Amino acid sequence: MSLNPEDAVRYDVRGDVAVLTIDFPPVNALGFPMREGMVLRLKQAQEDSAVKAIVVIGANDRFVAGADIREFGKPKQGPELLQIQEMMENSEKPVVCAIDGHALGGGLELALAAPFRVAASRAKIGLPEVNLGLLPGGGGTQRTTRIAGPEIALDLILNGKHISAAKGKELGLIDEVTDGPVLDAAIEFARARATEGGPFPKTVERTDKVQNVDPAIFEKERKAGAKKWQGMVAPFKIVDCIEAACTLGPREGLQFEKEAFKVCLEAPSRAAQVHLFFAERQAAKVNDLPADVKPRPIKKVGIIGAGTMGGGIAMSCVNVGLPVVLLEVKQEAIDAGLSKVQQNYDISVKRGSRSQAQVDKAMGLITPTLDYADFRDCDIVIEAVFENMAVKKEIFAKLDEVCKPGAILATNTSALDIDEIASATKRPEDVIGTHFFSPANVMKLLENVRGSKSSPETIATVMAFGKQIGKVPVLAGNCEGFIGNRMLKAYGTESEHLLEQGATPSSIDNALKAFGFPMGIFLMRDMAGLDVGYRMRQGRIEAGTLDPNSPSYTPLADRIVEAGRLGQKTGAGYYKYDGRDATPDPLVEDMLIKIAQDKGITRREISDEEIVDRILGVMVNEGAKILEEGIAQRASDIDVTYAFGYGFPKYRGGPMFWAQQKGLDKVLEIVRTNHAASGDRWKPAKLLEERAAAGQDWDGKPVAAA
Ligand code: 3HC
Repeated sequence: MSLNPEDAVRYDVRGDVAVLTIDFPPVNALGFPMREGMVLRLKQAQEDSAVKAIVVIGANDRFVAGADIREFGKPKQGPELLQIQEMMENSEKPVVCAIDGHALGGGLELALAAPFRVAASRAKIGLPEVNLGLLPGGGGTQRTTRIAGPEIALDLILNGKHISAAKGKELGLIDEVTDGPVLDAAIEFARARATEGGPFPKTVERTDKVQNVDPAIFEKERKAGAKKWQGMVAPFKIVDCIEAACTLGPREGLQFEKEAFKVCLEAPSRAAQVHLFFAERQAAKVNDLPADVKPRPIKKVGIIGAGTMGGGIAMSCVNVGLPVVLLEVKQEAIDAGLSKVQQNYDISVKRGSRSQAQVDKAMGLITPTLDYADFRDCDIVIEAVFENMAVKKEIFAKLDEVCKPGAILATNTSALDIDEIASATKRPEDVIGTHFFSPANVMKLLENVRGSKSSPETIATVMAFGKQIGKVPVLAGNCEGFIGNRMLKAYGTESEHLLEQGATPSSIDNALKAFGFPMGIFLMRDMAGLDVGYRMRQGRIEAGTLDPNSPSYTPLADRIVEAGRLGQKTGAGYYKYDGRDATPDPLVEDMLIKIAQDKGITRREISDEEIVDRILGVMVNEGAKILEEGIAQRASDIDVTYAFGYGFPKYRGGPMFWAQQKGLDKVLEIVRTNHAASGDRWKPAKLLEERAAAGQDWDGKPVAAA
């Protein structure tokens, strides 16, 4: 990274136009040397008598990705963004920002303060600060509202949308879009403005879109967001700032935004969301791969199984233009699968998120087949059939026969042993788990599971493949349930014990919802249906691997199913249902009272705090064991798994981050108390004990410096 301001922003002159090139890798963020460089170069251009106009451009085909996120929480150095913006805004020579790649957050705010913006047609612009628990604090809420109006500003900023240059032009945020080299177009544009002469527009002083605005639009937004934004600070403040742009003068509005930004910056949700931003990028990296390992290119995908998972995986691939061969055993199954995919796409056309042409193109990329031989030229084949080891082994043996050398043979299993599946082939080095989450076309997480023989190329390929299809890949080791479902099992078991001890499905679900989960575990189980889990338990009981008479066995789920309650689909499960509306059912509480009596448990009132501490505590303890065993590469990978695959509230940063914020010593206390009361399922993880004793975070850094 260049730390020298002269290098962070270069200066050269094309005829009578000064070109300021921001070159601050990796993404030209507004870091300290870049801000200092901008001040220096703008002064130079002002003083250069040969220069009539100024163009600001980013190196490496990208404009500016926003504030330097690494600087948050650290003492501020050097000039503020505001100083640069005022220099551009008050310049007597016209300043044109030439946007290619991305202009995001503070990057777009920098450009919006200049009088003019020319963008390449492939460029994207946006104010995504809300995803970091922030609001645009460089005038973005004020200028966007004044240029495009409050409704557009609310939509853009609350949703953190990236929009195309063409859309930006339609909204007035961009002055000119070019298909050619953006620098040439910007120079020509700048020269023309210099010839016309000033004064040049000051976007912050525009008033046409902020007069006579109905205050009801802000109230409506606040009301609609009240539930969705629970626990967050930024979205509420964004609405306040956009309203302020309509009621205050330009300088007062900027001051209002500055104060609101500071509140967001200091909120715990900001730290959590910034943690996840870096965690997501870190998760894509594999620690032990040799430096020269390259992923194999994936140009064609095979999928076995056109059910909900297979269909969703196929959509994820064709959505990014990857052709898919979709195999089923019977024509009816293929037809049903394709028709489900078509239905999903039809819904997206109705909602306006996709055009009919896009859908037709995507559907045209799916080749249905009943013949394994059609996988012969696929670069990866993903098996997505039901969880049965014998069936999976049979499939992998067939794949071994038909697939080309070097093809990745992947399984979507959510829990089965990857090594055993790989043993059905003569090429275990090419076998790996690619665990998708339902609905697979929507959920971002891809939990890749390495077997003991998966080769470095195979691992690198599925990690790159995850990014290629727009997922967030995380690498897990091979154990029952991998990272996500292993922790979920601990969470489910603890919830069942809480029920026997005095909680109810609704008290647990409500406590989890209040914590920030979109849905509690029992509602989720009812939605998924209770019969599959029941059949799996019965199978294990028959096989002798599960003892229903053990005191640790929690029989409520069995009693519910045996009473004919299979969840939402039968109108009753843990809850009773009127359509999709769930209400607590006293019958279930009666079952719990009976179970507790049989087990000699005295039921008691259990507080929300105890529910959350025990569920999170048991998950974190399991997470620490997962780390200790090397199943996860880092604690932050576990956070990414939970935030992108299991609905863990992003504004809390993930379970391991939550534990660190609470204090690992406090979490250990919860674990120890429950270990004393409930025995082995709460056995403290060694790593948790070690880190808590040493006053360290998960990475072994002293807590004060973390
Ligand atoms: N500050 C510091 N580092 C950043 C950064 C930023 N704004 N944006 C990205 N990076 C780093 C990443 O951490 C990563 O580092 P690594 O290589 O060490 O892991 C590297 O840049 C490359 O990032 P990506 O892997 O994400 O690269 P892509 O090419 O896939 O994506 C991008 C590029 C679209 C710019 C994406 O990085 C991105 O969305 N960045 C964040 C944009 C953003 O949220 N901006 C708003 C910041 S807050 C703000 O501006 C406040 C203001 O209102 C005052």
